[in-house]
Amino acid sequence: MKTPTNEALWLLDVRGGFEVRTSTHPTPGPGQVVVRVRAVAVNPVDAITGPFRRLVTPWMRYPTVIGSDVAGEIAAVGEGMTRFEVGDRVVGFAAGQERLRNNSEEGGFQHYVTVLERVCAELPDSVTFEQAAVLPLGVSTAAAGLYEKDQLALPLPTWSPSPRGEVVLVWGASTSVGSNAVQLARASGYTVIATAGRQNHDFVRSLGAQAVFDYRDHEVDQQIVEAIGHRHLAGSIAIGAGALTHALRIAGRTSGTRRIASAYPDPLTRVRSFLARARGIRVTSIWGGTPVQSPVGPAIFRDFLPVALSTGQFRPAPDPRVFGIGLDQVPGALAALRAGVSATKLVVTVTPEEIHP
Ligand SMILES: NC(=O)c1ccc[n+]([C@@H]2O[C@H](COP(=O)([O-])OP(=O)(O)OC[C@H]3O[C@@H](n4cnc5c(N)ncnc54)[C@H](OP(=O)(O)O)[C@@H]3O)[C@@H](O)[C@H]2O)c1
Repeated sequence: MKTPTNEALWLLDVRGGFEVRTSTHPTPGPGQVVVRVRAVAVNPVDAITGPFRRLVTPWMRYPTVIGSDVAGEIAAVGEGMTRFEVGDRVVGFAAGQERLRNNSEEGGFQHYVTVLERVCAELPDSVTFEQAAVLPLGVSTAAAGLYEKDQLALPLPTWSPSPRGEVVLVWGASTSVGSNAVQLARASGYTVIATAGRQNHDFVRSLGAQAVFDYRDHEVDQQIVEAIGHRHLAGSIAIGAGALTHALRIAGRTSGTRRIASAYPDPLTRVRSFLARARGIRVTSIWGGTPVQSPVGPAIFRDFLPVALSTGQFRPAPDPRVFGIGLDQVPGALAALRAGVSATKLVVTVTPEEIHP
């Protein structure tokens, strides 16, 4: 049988020049699968340009292939793997940008990508590849903040959670990370109180939040403190510019664990975390790729998502907006992401489903 050729969108250097050209056709090792990519999504970390990319991922060598969010079909499985078969529909976290992977064969913006089985989930037929592509980094970052031992360390999600009577605050719930955090926290049995732009309040409620407030409102902190009332605040996920300032105020005025997981790469986070300790508040910075190596990854991608997606308990959110077809559309999608989105994930169809190798 002829080996299919592979093509990738190469990031040529740290400044952000891209070019579509051939890449090695990967062979999966133990614990790995190769996914024939149908759709990818773009994330803020992909859209970084210039010296800031060196700050965020200093280990990366160029040229390389970036991209974390892939959905497609299993094209090959590593030795001894029984969980997947060739042709299975999956969504996976392409981990090529992670420090411990740092490998262009695991970058998502290509036709055939190597993915670790532990962060790959079966897809029900009811979820399209474009819908599924919104998930990986968003769900992984939310899960890192909620469940990693050094973050909020909350109990893992289940398919039939019992209400705990405690609250999780998701600041920035209409973001991709926030949409996943709301649903995961609900699946762990928490009541969710959230913030989002006013136009997205219905959307965030539809994900399971009990109450949603506008993060631009001058009274927002007081409104949230009142909404939490006497309930225990089990932790806060702070997403978006200014989120940590508000989350610190709210943690200081409510009872609970006084733990905040911050997803916003604000240079002041470390200083603020240090200062907050004196008030008994613990702030940690989330790294969305942590679950790639930790037990949280398989707990979400292997044990929770496949069933939760098939029953509709968990839905890929926010909705995708398909920017175009073909890898050469990714740089345009990145530019559109830099311009800003609202409760939307920008997705590129890599190869439409009707096209076979
Ligand atoms: N630490 C990590 O490993 C990691 C991983 C992934 C993402 N992140 C970071 O997490 C953040 C979210 O990423 P994403 O991909 O989820 O974003 P996204 O979906 O592209 O964000 C778009 C949303 O941001 C919301 N927003 C804008 N300014 C806000 C603010 N000041 N407070 C709260 N929400 C605000 C908008 O809400 P409205 O339209 O409702 O106003 C919009 O819906 C980014 O800062 C990103 O860099 C970090």
